[in-house]
Amino acid sequence: MPHSKPNSQGRLTQSVVLIGMMGAGKTAIGRALSARLRVEMHDSDAEIVTSAKLSIAEIFDRYGEPFFRDKEGRVIARLLDAPPCILSTGGGAWLAEDNRKMLLETACVLWLEADLDLLWSRVRHKSHRPLLQTEDPKATLAHLIETRTPAYELAPWKVAVQPDWSIDATADRVMDILLTAGAVTPQEAAT
Ligand code: S3P
Repeated sequence: MPHSKPNSQGRLTQSVVLIGMMGAGKTAIGRALSARLRVEMHDSDAEIVTSAKLSIAEIFDRYGEPFFRDKEGRVIARLLDAPPCILSTGGGAWLAEDNRKMLLETACVLWLEADLDLLWSRVRHKSHRPLLQTEDPKATLAHLIETRTPAYELAPWKVAVQPDWSIDATADRVMDILLTAGAVTPQEAAT
């Protein structure tokens, strides 16, 4: 069954899941891939917000991080139990072993890697991320990168995002990897 409409840049054979730190560009690149492949794109954070009718910060504040993580795992499971799509996940989703197992079994997982300076330049002016509401958010971000990198390194595919790459240039690199991985196959010409 085809999972991409005609005129797309390829046919999606399995869901593609973008993982990586806050500010890596998972949502922006997910949208670009979705437009190129003409498939649905989901964002686990956005789904959680819609179902809880609360912002991420409110969920953390009222119910705590473990509650959020539980919801995150359920939302991801639901989104993967559907036709192939592009799924952008929150930065911590990949850290739970159960999530990793589920994602590796059902999807093509790609880590958008970015260094501290790039991530900081993107997140520093945004205040909606509860984990960065600390006295020294840049140090917190550096600590999160350090502690999470061994887990992110378990991802089968990676693109190291560069500061001078546009969304389109980054999406080009990701598309190349998805073709190599077989998650996207070239679209046959219409007959
Ligand atoms: C988090 C990242 C956020 C969101 C929550 C926790 C994390 O998503 O899920 O604030 O643990 O890194 P983004 O990566 O989309 O910012």
